[in-house]
Amino acid sequence: MSTDFTSLRKFVSPEIVFGVGARKTVGNFARTFGAQRVLIVSDPGVHAAGWVKDVEESLAAIGIEYRLYTDVSPNPRAEEVMQGAALYNQEGCNMIVAIGGGSPMDCAKGIGIVSANRGHILHFEGVDQISAPIPPLVFIPTTAGTSADVSQFAIISDPETHNKISIISKAVVPDVSLIDPETTVTMDPFLTACTGIDAMVHAVEAYVSTASGPLTDMHALEAIKLVSSNLTALVANPTDIHLRTQVMLGSMKAGLAFSNAILGAVHAMSHSLGGHLDLPHGLCNAILLEHVIDYNFPSSEDKFRIIADTVGIDTRGMKTKQVKQQLLKSVHKLKQDVGLTQRLKEAGVSSADIPELSKKALKDPCILTNPRKSNKRDVEVVYEEAL
Ligand SMILES: [Fe+2]
Repeated sequence: MSTDFTSLRKFVSPEIVFGVGARKTVGNFARTFGAQRVLIVSDPGVHAAGWVKDVEESLAAIGIEYRLYTDVSPNPRAEEVMQGAALYNQEGCNMIVAIGGGSPMDCAKGIGIVSANRGHILHFEGVDQISAPIPPLVFIPTTAGTSADVSQFAIISDPETHNKISIISKAVVPDVSLIDPETTVTMDPFLTACTGIDAMVHAVEAYVSTASGPLTDMHALEAIKLVSSNLTALVANPTDIHLRTQVMLGSMKAGLAFSNAILGAVHAMSHSLGGHLDLPHGLCNAILLEHVIDYNFPSSEDKFRIIADTVGIDTRGMKTKQVKQQLLKSVHKLKQDVGLTQRLKEAGVSSADIPELSKKALKDPCILTNPRKSNKRDVEVVYEEAL
């Protein structure tokens, strides 16, 4: 009997420590990995919020040296990766700790790749392009959304071409993720909303992805439930640690789902937008989400019905058309409740930008697992609807 390899599924995950105080165990993990000198990667905002200090203290307490690289900008740039890798090698580091949102974590992945493989970071674009093993990575996320701490993705910006490149490899799944909901209390309501919607999009795209399966579906659905039922309350009560924990858990589950089932057209189109305008990733996703669901719905009606049930719509007896309408309404309401109501035009996009944006979106690896096959005109129409 021949085997159908296309139906095989894998599941990769870091070692995860979840809960308030998880960040303070970083020193123990550094010792386990035999770290002599650690490069701590972060950004100015996270540094100012005091979270980097906790890492420094945890390492210092057991006598492990460290160097700081905290100049990472939002949407990390290729040259920042190259500078970080130069510092890593010059200082003789042998382990990387990243603390922050998606930007420092993706930059840290890039530093790991370049320090072990040499060459320019932009040359590692695509799936499985990394040959030499990269140094131990211990990540502490301070946002609940990007999930770079559990994923096999690194997204790096190339300011020269206004492109965002996707690096997809098991090599960039961190060794350890210390997920500590307390670190997310310093996010303002806008960032809380953007990252929370990003997590929701991860879960929805992973669930309907052509690479989804039983190993990821349960995580995706639990994530949809956790985020949809807690995000609005969290944006209104940003210091509530119980709500922070629920949304962080949702984000983690969404991350485990999408890292293994990959994503879809929202991310392909949003990477293209983010590279073009340097907009927050979650905001780009929020603008596009219901328009992509509308486009994808016919290709995955049964799954979208389950998503509708999961966000609390009673679909019993509903015709497919009604399910779609109710789901789109509910996504729109969630966005409105968390304050993300912008359209592409308000974000600075004009109709003249759409052909170029669409061309880039079609080259993004995330488009390959979108449930409905799309050509350039399809993508253009979805951008036009979001304008
Ligand atoms: Fe995302």
